[in-house]
Amino acid sequence: MPDVVTTIPELRARIAAARRDAALEGSADAPSGRVVLVPTMGALHDGHLQLVSHARDLGGIVVVSIFVNPLQFGPGEDLDRYPRTLEADVARLTGLADVVFAPTPTEMYPNGPSETRVSAGAVGSLYEGASRPGHFDGMLTVVAKLFNIVAPDVAVFGQKDAQQVHLVGRMVDELNIPTSIAVVDTVREQDGLALSSRNAYLDPAGRAAAVVLSQALAAAAEAATATTGDVDAVLAAAHERIDSEPAVKLDYLVVVDPDSFLAVAEDHHGPAVVLVAARVGTTRLIDNERISIH
Ligand code: PAJ
Repeated sequence: MPDVVTTIPELRARIAAARRDAALEGSADAPSGRVVLVPTMGALHDGHLQLVSHARDLGGIVVVSIFVNPLQFGPGEDLDRYPRTLEADVARLTGLADVVFAPTPTEMYPNGPSETRVSAGAVGSLYEGASRPGHFDGMLTVVAKLFNIVAPDVAVFGQKDAQQVHLVGRMVDELNIPTSIAVVDTVREQDGLALSSRNAYLDPAGRAAAVVLSQALAAAAEAATATTGDVDAVLAAAHERIDSEPAVKLDYLVVVDPDSFLAVAEDHHGPAVVLVAARVGTTRLIDNERISIH
């Protein structure tokens, strides 16, 4: 079982000790003093575990944080009903993580929601940010706090949340945070649905309908490689698939440039990312796919 640590001083002491041990051992086969962080909100599924096993492969001490961050939830969102399954999460991390950091909201925000925030800037108000105002400022703020608490050499994120990865990458770059970001591909169910803690909210009919998101992305990827591939054709192919399922209410569907994360021009050629978000009943799902437009 990993050590479960709930306070910041305890975590800092545990990490400092691990770094010291690694420095003392100093031989070629001694564990490296590298610290790898995997930030999560818990309710761990195989997607999260893939991130942790990637962290393990990088070597060193693996810290998994489990914290449902109130700052990144808007009014009326699912903060209260977000699944909290700490005991099962810790059990699943046995043999994969060395330390689980599971702070209380008071440990992270002793003065209430912090006044100081990291701004996600213009891209932070697009797509997910347009549907969830303040979400990315809250996310970047907690990630910056976790980076300051853990001082990881590497932090591992999932491609599943493409806009999140983009913004975290830009934050470490623009704020000179000495942590490198590793990205792991989206882990999917057999039928293509991206694993998500929120899939637990879906009833059987919703679960069956939700598959159109990944199918729409596959249709977009296929249209992109067709000789007639252009952005309109890519979007039309994805729309057609989503429109075929009345239980799925589209929020946004957009093709973005992988570097700027801005919507591409109609005549764009080369790499791009298709982002999709939709509501299935009361559950909001997101997915994305990297494509290349001919
Ligand atoms: P959470 O939704 O728990 O996700 C934690 C990490 O797991 C994120 O990097 C996310 O992209 C990754 N992940 C989720 N589903 C995945 C899947 N199917 N395949 C691959 N990776 C997947 O994202 C957050 O928490 C929070 O915003 C956080 C970064 C922890 C800040 O609070």
